[in-house]
Amino acid sequence: MRTTISVIKADIGSIGGHIQPSRALLEAVASHVEEYGKAKGLISDAYISYTGDDIAILMAHQRGMNHPDVHQLAYEAFRKATDIAKSQGLYGAGQDLLKDAFSGNIRGMGPAVAEIEFEERPNEPFLFFAADKTSPGAYNLPLYLAFADPMYCSGLILSPKLGKGFKFVIMDVNYTEADRIIELNAPEDLYDIAALLRDTERFVVEAIYNRATGEQAVSVSTSRLRNIAGKYVGKDDPVMLVRVQGNFPATGEVLSTFAIGHFVAGFMRGSHNGPLMPVPHNTPVSYFDGPPIVTCHAMCVHNGKFTEAADPFDHPFWRSVQDRIAEKALDLRRQGFFGPAMLPYEELEYGGIVERMKELEKRFVIRETHD
Ligand code: F6R
Ligand code: MG
Ligand code: MG
Repeated sequence: MRTTISVIKADIGSIGGHIQPSRALLEAVASHVEEYGKAKGLISDAYISYTGDDIAILMAHQRGMNHPDVHQLAYEAFRKATDIAKSQGLYGAGQDLLKDAFSGNIRGMGPAVAEIEFEERPNEPFLFFAADKTSPGAYNLPLYLAFADPMYCSGLILSPKLGKGFKFVIMDVNYTEADRIIELNAPEDLYDIAALLRDTERFVVEAIYNRATGEQAVSVSTSRLRNIAGKYVGKDDPVMLVRVQGNFPATGEVLSTFAIGHFVAGFMRGSHNGPLMPVPHNTPVSYFDGPPIVTCHAMCVHNGKFTEAADPFDHPFWRSVQDRIAEKALDLRRQGFFGPAMLPYEELEYGGIVERMKELEKRFVIRETHD
């Protein structure tokens, strides 16, 4: 069976700051998707979850990628729930719905989208990741390690199914007129891939394919809210789908890359660096509007229906990892806004500092020198 998995997520309002949606919001999204999606046969299954202040609608269907009705279903669910957010007086109600009129595709309207279409394997395990308080480049390092580095993905040397390597499709997210992409192959182009992916705010992995079979393994949301809105309106908080096992890395190989707790851009006011902490499903953010968090749903899809979701980051192993990552966060936070704790000027999301710098520019003087 040919199945498409689509995940569409948005921040449409929060209780108590930018930290988590209300129960009523989640229920409003779920009931809209049930009534207008599942009951009408538009989609075959759906699963609603939250990560920090973002609600994700994970859908299985047979309509292919970028289908207007599927995108509209998610858009309407978020729009309707925004009315609830307003009526409840939630903070940031409708924050990610940046455009009013739906015109066939939700991309470019604010919500993040990741989709993969494939011929279902007899058993089709996949991982759905959602991150809050960070940008799409947060997945660059885990993807590089899981799909190109045998130090993390032992399958690259142990399994003949992975041995030909993977093709990376990388997007220049600063180019706003159209999609500017490059295709590079691991392992031959490894240094070129590394040279691009180190620049997480400009170059972002959009998709990865198995080179031996041509099958798509990965899809990442690449939208940058500030490019759509022209100013800071919240961090992008990317979602990602990763097919696993068989011709792809094993679940555990992909998960192992998140034990690093690598530093990513985001955190408080979208303007700092902080370590990415793997957390259980439906976890809010907290300390310094963070730390940046990532959840993972491990599921199978079969005949267009999802199994229940396993929660791989809710496991005793991750407790000490989380403690270590909290220490990393505290260490960097001790230096406040100095050096790498705060993002470089070009990446700062808040308009206030731009205004402040403009004012200060006027007050600079060139000192006269007397010989
Ligand atoms: C980061 C984020 C929060 C807010 C911060 C200030 O993506 O959403 O850290 O930037 O709480 O929010 P405002 O400006 O809405 O008071
Ligand atoms: Mg938010
Ligand atoms: Mg968010």
